[in-house]
Amino acid sequence: MFTLTIKRTALFAALHILVPLVLATSESQVSLSSLSSNSYNQPHLSSTFDNGYDDVDFDEPRLVRFIVEDWHGDAVMLEEPVWVTERVKLDSKRTGDGYIDITEHPNYNPSRYSAAPSPTHVYHPPNSTIVPQILPLLSTQEQRSNLEIFTSFHTRYYKSKTGHASSRWLYQRVLNYTSEYATDALREAVGIELVLYEHKGFKQESVIIRLIPRRSLNSSESVERLHEITIIGAHCDSINNENPFYRSPGADDDGSGTITILEAYRAILQNGYVPLSPLEFHFYAAEEGGLLGSLDISDAYVKAGKDVRGMIEFDMTAWVAAGRPEEIGVVMNGADLALSKYTKLLIEKYLDIPWIETRYPGRAASDYMAWTMAGYQSSHVLEGAWEGVNNGNHHQVTDSIDVSPEFSFEHIMRFTRLAVAFAVELSSY
Ligand SMILES: *[C@@H]1O[C@H](CO)[C@@H](O)[C@H](O)[C@H]1NC(C)=O
Ligand SMILES: *[C@@H]1O[C@H](CO)[C@@H](O)[C@H](O)[C@H]1NC(C)=O
Ligand SMILES: *[C@@H]1O[C@H](CO)[C@@H](O)[C@H](O)[C@H]1NC(C)=O
Repeated sequence: MFTLTIKRTALFAALHILVPLVLATSESQVSLSSLSSNSYNQPHLSSTFDNGYDDVDFDEPRLVRFIVEDWHGDAVMLEEPVWVTERVKLDSKRTGDGYIDITEHPNYNPSRYSAAPSPTHVYHPPNSTIVPQILPLLSTQEQRSNLEIFTSFHTRYYKSKTGHASSRWLYQRVLNYTSEYATDALREAVGIELVLYEHKGFKQESVIIRLIPRRSLNSSESVERLHEITIIGAHCDSINNENPFYRSPGADDDGSGTITILEAYRAILQNGYVPLSPLEFHFYAAEEGGLLGSLDISDAYVKAGKDVRGMIEFDMTAWVAAGRPEEIGVVMNGADLALSKYTKLLIEKYLDIPWIETRYPGRAASDYMAWTMAGYQSSHVLEGAWEGVNNGNHHQVTDSIDVSPEFSFEHIMRFTRLAVAFAVELSSY
């Protein structure tokens, strides 16, 4: 998850005054550094580990759209685009002023997408006979060992060497699972594509898994148009808000979501499940940079004319706050109503804890919004109601597995069951 503070800050107010100045002069050397602390200029860290600032330009201009404060409704609300420096982006993030970064998509305009007729899918009540066969295959041990490795990267910051290495590790893990569990019979029925998805402007890659039933490959028409895709997502980067090159284990945000969907994939493979429509798992790079990975990917899906039956995102699935009931938070703003309702049905059928509706406050953002903005139906589940979320540790060195007993692998497992249910129920027709 992306941000937490609710208050509009003085910094943000200052941005609105300064930005037109930058645009008017269009001089790249105009400096906004007086706005912010210059901690990013201090080179002392690069001497302590090989993860330095060498190719990061904190004065680089970036085009962003801030999230409208305390927005409601199922459409994502954005402010008008403004140019800011990378440094100001980081400062805004620290003060909780969330944004999407559209530098690579300067004409990005959600209303253009929604003007295009996008089909509204109907979700029938869950009735799979396969989900109950897969659930017993899920392993907490596997998840713990994956998360221990994933959090051992110094940071998974998308511009860092270790952030790049962590995505490469994830890709290799997915490759290994695929060669270990995908039988010949499965490969005959399903094309399996593993994609290391490169992005412009930063090192870290997204990882995409595609299971494409071969019966859909025989069609003479565009497969993607004919066949509605089910997408299970999480983000694989992390950040330390104090300085993006500081230690950032990102155990909850979003290592938890990453191992949630990774284990769902492993168990689905192990079962030999053959989907009847395409099923995909997405691990997005650079969510913390303003949804960079998911914006690139969802934009590519729109341009390729792909049809998405439903997308669900898992961002923070580990925390059960002391003194609060254990619940699945279903985030209602920026999410599709019908798909969120369907998600609740799955929770009722396959989980033994209740859902609770919740909402992103302030300018908070996460990857499901990229899919909503692209005109697709998306939903988002969270470790509980917003008030109980692990906001005391996220984006800090303390976002670790052992910071507190409130970090719960049992809770993660419940989300993993939901990921399996969503994946299989929606791709079974
Ligand atoms: C589940 O329900 C759908 C829609 O009613 C139906 O098409 C499908 O065959 C059913 N699946 C099973 C396993 O009963
Ligand atoms: C993948 O499998 C190879 C061969 O067994 C092993 O050396 C490597 O550590 C594994 N990597 C991951 C990320 O699982
Ligand atoms: C798809 O095409 C392949 C090769 O042409 C063929 O062997 C297979 O039977 C076809 N499958 C279906 C479901 O039509």
